[in-house]
Amino acid sequence: MTLLTILSTLALPALAQALSCTLTPDYEPPVVAPGYTLQLVVKGINTPRHITFDDRGNLLVAGDRSGIIALELAEGQDGCVEVMRRVVVAENGGLDLYHGVAVSGDGRTIFASSTTTVHAFPYNSTTLSTLPPTALITNLTNPGHITRTLYTPHTHPNTLLVSRGSESNIDAGSGDITTGRSQLKAFSTLTTGQDFTTSGTLLGWGLRNSVGVAQDNVGGVWSVENAPDSIVLEGMDVNERNPAEELNYHGLLPTALETPNYVGPSYGYPTCLTVWDPTVLPAPYSALAVGDPLPLPPVTSCSNTTAATLAFDAHTAPLDIKFHPTLPGAFVTFHGSSARKEPAGYKVSWLPFMDDTPTGEVLDVVWTRNRTGCPGACLRPVGLAVDKRGRVWFSADRSGEVWLITVLGVNGTNETESGGGGGTGANETAETGTSGGGEAGGSGSGSGSEQESAAAGRAGWDAVGVVGVAVWALLALV
Ligand SMILES: *[C@@H]1O[C@H](CO)[C@@H](O)[C@H](O)[C@H]1NC(C)=O
Ligand SMILES: *[C@@H]1O[C@H](CO)[C@@H](O)[C@H](O)[C@H]1NC(C)=O
Ligand SMILES: *[C@@H]1O[C@H](CO)[C@@H](O)[C@H](O)[C@H]1NC(C)=O
Ligand SMILES: *[C@@H]1O[C@H](CO)[C@@H](O)[C@H](O)[C@H]1NC(C)=O
Ligand SMILES: *[C@@H]1O[C@H](CO)[C@@H](O)[C@H](O)[C@H]1NC(C)=O
Ligand SMILES: *[C@@H]1O[C@H](CO)[C@@H](O)[C@H](O)[C@H]1NC(C)=O
Ligand SMILES: *[C@@H]1O[C@H](CO)[C@@H](O)[C@H](O)[C@H]1NC(C)=O
Repeated sequence: MTLLTILSTLALPALAQALSCTLTPDYEPPVVAPGYTLQLVVKGINTPRHITFDDRGNLLVAGDRSGIIALELAEGQDGCVEVMRRVVVAENGGLDLYHGVAVSGDGRTIFASSTTTVHAFPYNSTTLSTLPPTALITNLTNPGHITRTLYTPHTHPNTLLVSRGSESNIDAGSGDITTGRSQLKAFSTLTTGQDFTTSGTLLGWGLRNSVGVAQDNVGGVWSVENAPDSIVLEGMDVNERNPAEELNYHGLLPTALETPNYVGPSYGYPTCLTVWDPTVLPAPYSALAVGDPLPLPPVTSCSNTTAATLAFDAHTAPLDIKFHPTLPGAFVTFHGSSARKEPAGYKVSWLPFMDDTPTGEVLDVVWTRNRTGCPGACLRPVGLAVDKRGRVWFSADRSGEVWLITVLGVNGTNETESGGGGGTGANETAETGTSGGGEAGGSGSGSGSEQESAAAGRAGWDAVGVVGVAVWALLALV
């Protein structure tokens, strides 16, 4: 049965319009939950990482050390989105740009990061051109986790949030606040040459590798953190199902920026992690619950650090988070595990919020049906961006793609709509970290997966021009 046949037999008006979309992945297509459609918009980008929109609706993509790419998009008559033009707007030019991209609040600057530096390129979104960059933030160098995530908060258009990870799996030095590692900071975009370690406002530290950063609609800052690998407790290797990956809350940005000498809390790493599956932990850790702080010997208490808000399955590698402008909640990409035997992640999920707080549910929106061969021929979601229509775009680095999720109808937050059933256990309920008494959350990023350069190969720029779109809609039903 072909996809077209499947779509036809479903006979849903919302889908019929998308039948001319033609692009298909080179691997088993991911599954999309009822209530959403999924379109493959672009292939052949060299390892796309984080993505964002400029002020004219062009999608900017950080490709692996090739620079920042602008995709000029057009709405096709048939409901398919087409790429009209594809331009490298910020040339790598030896800068070793990798992963991070953001646009200033006024739309006139592109920020792009290497492992060492955040560069600011004066940008014209009409001509899709830049001027030579200046170094906005320096001294970000460390080995290990090399992504430097960038984010422009809507409450402070002249501020840039920058996340920097640890230099190793368990980076003892990051427990010293003066090293500047495993930290999330806010910087003015109006001053060049700021040293990462000695400038800016520290929103949080003890964050092993918080690759995804976002601001919610009321001004709160959230990040998703990748926890360590190879943890041994009481002589037992607990790596397969612990520690948890984390969602951390950093408070209201206006409060942090308006408080003189503000210093955000430690989220625990490298001494305090978070429990995912206590049933496989040795005593005394087996008495802990999902989401509880997990002190690493010789530390026995996590009372001086801040606990995670939510715990996610071990090594699933959350690499981005973005809030929806009108629906209460956030999407999260899980790049997928490379550090455990049973593959997990390889999906995009929806975290419903209520009263500006996560409900605790992790509802899968797009996922990989057969993860046996992962991380090989699988979807590996990385960057997220939400457009003005409330559609959700995400990159997939291994396969060199950008995909588009459309929320059907007006209520994509309905559990029964957005919770993917299907073969992957779509309702993975994340437990809330216990509060009270102070805890430690925090572990870092890792899974090693965000260090990979997931070679997608330098395929495809020539295949561009007008790119077709495939709609993989409601496959969860068939
Ligand atoms: C961008 O370029 C166009 C065309 O040259 C020009 O009209 C416009 O003023 C430029 N915008 C900025 C912000 O410089
Ligand atoms: C930070 O940058 C300054 C100026 O480039 C340099 O002198 C210093 O060595 C750097 N510090 C570190 C820790 O890299
Ligand atoms: C918390 O206390 C432990 C000792 O119990 C110490 O090792 C750790 O550095 C402290 N963390 C912070 C963030 O103060
Ligand atoms: C899943 O993929 C593996 C190869 O990675 C394959 O051997 C297996 O047959 C697949 N399972 C199903 C149910 O398709
Ligand atoms: C979604 O459903 C809820 C509950 O029925 C309702 O309050 C809300 O307004 C709906 N959202 C939209 C965008 O219609
Ligand atoms: C979600 O959908 C179910 C089934 O259609 C419906 O019973 C329920 O009222 C909906 N909830 C919201 C909040 O819209
Ligand atoms: C997900 O699981 C939680 C806890 O078991 C439950 O409350 C919720 O209704 C489930 N949601 C869906 C969509 O199945």
